[in-house]
Amino acid sequence: MRLDVVTIFPEYLEPLNVSLVGKARAAGRLDVHVHDLRDWTYDRHNTVDDTPYGGGPGMVMKTGPWGEALDDALAGGYEAGAHSPVLVVPTPSGRPFTQEMAVELSGRPWLVFTPARYEGIDRRVIDEYATRMPVVEVSIGDYVLAGGEAAVLVVTEAVARLLPGVLGNAESHRDDSFAPGAMADLLEGPVYTKPPEWRGRGIPDVLLSGHHGRIARWRRDEAFRRTALNRPDLIERCEASGFDKKDREILSILGWSPEPGGRFWRRPEAVEE
Ligand code: ADE
Repeated sequence: MRLDVVTIFPEYLEPLNVSLVGKARAAGRLDVHVHDLRDWTYDRHNTVDDTPYGGGPGMVMKTGPWGEALDDALAGGYEAGAHSPVLVVPTPSGRPFTQEMAVELSGRPWLVFTPARYEGIDRRVIDEYATRMPVVEVSIGDYVLAGGEAAVLVVTEAVARLLPGVLGNAESHRDDSFAPGAMADLLEGPVYTKPPEWRGRGIPDVLLSGHHGRIARWRRDEAFRRTALNRPDLIERCEASGFDKKDREILSILGWSPEPGGRFWRRPEAVEE
């Protein structure tokens, strides 16, 4: 997979050389190109922003440098044999970034990121490239960062670990919170490793039992506990038809009841631990 990032802070993308993403690069699974937007400015101050039309606070990133930078980055990629780029625009006004989106993006051969500072990029830039390639505007959460670079790191890490051969153990994704499949829509429960006792704290007996069926059931119960506590919205969204008898038992213990519509709701007396 090829990645291009155009930014006014190339050094902010240094973490792409570290850890899993760094290894994916070293292994040739990821071909990363970071471009300094100011290389496409021609005035003494390397200006990339200007005041917004219509007034208001802050500054808007100018069309000129973005247009030339993206044209050159795209031309460079095509020359190197890359194809089918997707423009990924980090913005708090974008679609919420999800595991599903990470899976979708991990199937693409080429992602081009446009992290912005200030109040964002002149809209005409996005509209222009949307005529040439798919554009995804993504938000990594309901908060406002000073710029999109941290979002690029988040999206890249979520995508890179899904690339074939990047994670050591292909099974590792299977139980991810938010992974499609058996544990879909439940958060992962707690995990333990050696030593068996630490500061007087042991390991849940069932994990030492060697009984795979009981261990799987315990993990699922813990997943329900954690999800009920931290993300009750995920349980409210679940189709109850996907729950077995034991699921219903643990949900009942946690204060959830089935409703006729086929979902579960939390009994009011059970809210707050
Ligand atoms: N830029 C600023 N805030 C952001 C957010 N929450 N997600 C993506 N890009 C951003």
